[in-house]
Amino acid sequence: MRKVLVTGGLGYIGSHTAVELQEAGFEVLIIDDLSNAELNVLDGIVAITGTRPHFEKIDLRVKNDVEDFFRRNKVDGIIHFAASKAVGESVENPLLYYENNLHTLNYLLQQCVKHNIDNFIFSSSCTVYGQPDELPITEDAPVQPAMSPYGNTKQISEEILVDVCHASNLQAISLRYFNPIGAHDSTEIGELPKGTPQNLVPFITQTAVGLRDELSVFGDDYPTPDGSCIRDYIHVVDLAEAHVIALQRLFDKKNEQDYEVFNLGTGRGSSVLEVVNAFEKVNSVKLNYKIVDRRPGDVISVYADTSKAAEVLGWKTKKTMEEALESAWRWEKKVRNKQ
Ligand code: UD1
Repeated sequence: MRKVLVTGGLGYIGSHTAVELQEAGFEVLIIDDLSNAELNVLDGIVAITGTRPHFEKIDLRVKNDVEDFFRRNKVDGIIHFAASKAVGESVENPLLYYENNLHTLNYLLQQCVKHNIDNFIFSSSCTVYGQPDELPITEDAPVQPAMSPYGNTKQISEEILVDVCHASNLQAISLRYFNPIGAHDSTEIGELPKGTPQNLVPFITQTAVGLRDELSVFGDDYPTPDGSCIRDYIHVVDLAEAHVIALQRLFDKKNEQDYEVFNLGTGRGSSVLEVVNAFEKVNSVKLNYKIVDRRPGDVISVYADTSKAAEVLGWKTKKTMEEALESAWRWEKKVRNKQ
């Protein structure tokens, strides 16, 4: 049984990926520092899969602890999620982001080279494209100057991977996510941000459940059909499945280059107001919202060209945005005991 280390494996996308890995027959080891996740996510993973992954609470910025982990554990591949992801926080505290997102990658890759761990999947973002000239966005679209330190860490991480793949036996795949939403159908795991949610869907569900007074829709004067920003919302379970497929591609040595990138999206753009309306409709709830000023740094419209992932990975999304919004709502109600 192949052993896969999932860093940040108790986080939102990490936990869904840990489930898919276990269901595909991999042995999962999780490292998480619990800075933005709860230990009881492990129970959710067990409830779905029947198997408790090996877990260690490690802060990947502590190099000695990282080295110690790899001295004690043999792994065949790594899926690296652990990182900070709040755009605004990264503008206020860039050094934290450069340390959290870059030192940690460096330490992990040092261990990959040292212990001959050649298979590495990296959690990247469509943020590397900025506001592209052409939509949908293909992987060939130029990487634009980053709009935040967070975005910059994703770009630099990808560059680090290119260099390390060139200089060693490492083979890596960067998966550039569009906007992951939704929860596992079992509602045993889902998105649970600490503090005020920065992202749209958790803010919607927390407003609907009564934790927040109202949702602010950031701008209705963009050059889009209804004036609100457009994003490509992808169900987190579809996204998680793509990680298993990408990792298997490396294990099978089917990759064409040492370093590859894939967009993970649905190919469909939805505006903020369309998401709000779909949420209300699919869940029969009324959402309190108001239009406010634009949020600084937001791009107008981004959605993926998904043909490379379809042709090369043989992967495309199976679930709809409505299914994601329905599961997100069931999850929120369950977490707040409002079922
Ligand atoms: C943001 C980052 C992206 C990062 C991701 C991770 C930017 C430009 N992009 O994605 O790089 O990978 O977070 O978390 O910051 N919205 C509202 N009201 C809200 C929240 C959001 O109207 O309360 C709108 C936003 O203006 C945007 C859309 O909803 O148009 C999606 O926002 P969000 O969920 O924060 O994701 P991104 O900004 O696309």
